[in-house]
Amino acid sequence: MNIKTPKLTVVGAGPGDVDLITIKGIKAIESADVILYDALINEELLKYASKNTEIIFVGKRKGCYAFQQEQINELIVAKAKEKGHVVRLKGGDPFIFGRGAEEIDYVKPFGLETFVVPGISSAIAVHAYQGIPLTKRGASESFWVITGTTKAHQLSEDVAIAAKSTATVIILMGMSKLDEIVRVFSSENKQDTPIAIIQDGTTENEKVGFGTISTICKVVEEKELANPSIIVIGDVVKERVELSSLVKNLNENIS
Ligand SMILES: C[S@@+](CC[C@H](N)C(=O)[O-])C[C@H]1O[C@@H](n2cnc3c(N)ncnc32)[C@H](O)[C@@H]1O
Repeated sequence: MNIKTPKLTVVGAGPGDVDLITIKGIKAIESADVILYDALINEELLKYASKNTEIIFVGKRKGCYAFQQEQINELIVAKAKEKGHVVRLKGGDPFIFGRGAEEIDYVKPFGLETFVVPGISSAIAVHAYQGIPLTKRGASESFWVITGTTKAHQLSEDVAIAAKSTATVIILMGMSKLDEIVRVFSSENKQDTPIAIIQDGTTENEKVGFGTISTICKVVEEKELANPSIIVIGDVVKERVELSSLVKNLNENIS
C-alpha cells in the first residue's frame, strides 16, 4: 500500500480576484489530497484541485462558524494522517491576521511536514485596484497594517500610536470599530484626513466609500458598506490615480 507522508501546506489565496494567487499556490492546490478552505476564498480556485481531492469548507457563513479553530486543527492532523497532503487555503496571506502560524504550531508535534506559500494580502492589494498608493513621495513615507479587533475584541492600541504619525494606516477587521477609530483620529486633530473604505476588494462585488475622518461614518451608512472591508487612512487616499479596468484588459488580450 502506498502510504503518503502526512503534510500541511498553508496557502495564501490572495484577496479575492481569482488571478491574484501565486503559481506556487496553484501547484499546491493541484497536489492536494484534501483542501480545507475559508470563507474569503474565491471558490473558483478550487477548479485547480484534482477530481479526487476532498474539499471541505471550514469558514464562517452568515455569522456562523462551520468549525471552531480547535476542530480545524484536529481535522488537519486527522486528514493528513488519513490521506497525505492537506492544503489549508486562506484568504490573502496566511501569516497576516490569518492564523497560519497557529495551525503550523499545532500540527508540528503530530509529525506532519509543514510548508507555507505566501499570498497577496488584502492589506497591500485591495487599495491598488482603487488606484490608491500606500506610499507616495511627499504624501507618505511608511504604512502600518493594524487589526481593528484584537483577540479580546478591543480596538488595537496601536491605532492610537499610528494616528500620531504621518504614516498611511490600513485597518483590517475594523468596521465594527469605525466610530472608535474616528474618535482616535479626531483627538489628533485629523478630522480632515482622507479615508477610503473598500469592501470585497478585487472582486466583482467591490464597493467603495471615500471621505474624511469627519464624514466617513455617514458615507458608510449611505453606501451600506460592511465586512469584509479594509480601511485606508492618510493623504495617499487623495493621491489616487485613475485606472482602466485591468481585469477587462487582460481578458481582451487573452481572447
Ligand atoms: C481575518 S482577516 C484575514 C486577512 C488575510 N489574511 C489577508 O492577508 O488579507 C479578514 C479581514 O481582511 C480584510 N479583507 C480580506 N479580504 C478582503 C477584501 N477582498 N476586501 C476588503 N477587505 C478584505 C477585511 O478587513 C477582513 O475583515
